[in-house]
Amino acid sequence: MHVVRETPRLLLSRYTLKYVALLHPITSDKETMSYYPAPFSLEQTAAWIERSIKCYEEFGFGRYGVFLKDTLEFIGCVGFFRTEVNGEEENDLGYILGKPYWHHGYATEAAQACIDMAKENAWFSRIVIQMAVEHTASRQVAGRLGAKLESQFIKHRNRGKLTNLFVLDI
Ligand SMILES: CC(C)(COP(=O)(O)OP(=O)(O)OC[C@H]1O[C@@H](n2cnc3c(N)ncnc32)[C@H](O)[C@@H]1OP(=O)(O)O)[C@@H](O)C(=O)NCCC(=O)NCCS
Repeated sequence: MHVVRETPRLLLSRYTLKYVALLHPITSDKETMSYYPAPFSLEQTAAWIERSIKCYEEFGFGRYGVFLKDTLEFIGCVGFFRTEVNGEEENDLGYILGKPYWHHGYATEAAQACIDMAKENAWFSRIVIQMAVEHTASRQVAGRLGAKLESQFIKHRNRGKLTNLFVLDI
């Protein structure tokens, strides 16, 4: 494990290709991925992890695997991608947890750890968090992190869904 951050309950680790087998049961689950265009195929999960590894190399940050510190269970994915959002180059903070790990505060704890790392390393000064307007759970996480709703846009890459753009300046 290449741990980049420890929080009271979690460990965040850089991905390697070995994580495809851990992440795929989560990213292929229909309910977990209901706000994404579709559940991921195995190839898409592998591409997600490869993209993250490239992001570490290019920018020093990326998405991370999340583990429970006490049991070392793998519970999901959190972190940043440098990506285009609504026509702008942004630092996009995202979180995906396996269903058994919802409603414990883990997503907020993991995402806050990423924000802290971004501040300490001065990676960037603007973070966006995007979610479909009807995605209450994700919107609440963004709110708990202190992000503010900046605008809404139609996300053509995600079924033309009206999407909230939350922003956190750090
Ligand atoms: C979005 C997602 C990560 C949110 O997870 P979450 O568990 O609701 O978010 P948090 O980590 O902030 O947890 C908050 C909940 O934990 C509860 N909680 C329990 N123990 C807690 C603790 N010790 N500390 C903080 N909160 C705690 C809170 O009361 C809150 O409860 P509620 O959900 O009933 O309101 C999760 O729904 C998910 O993975 N969904 C699928 C993937 C996805 O759609 N990702 C976002 C794409 S835009």
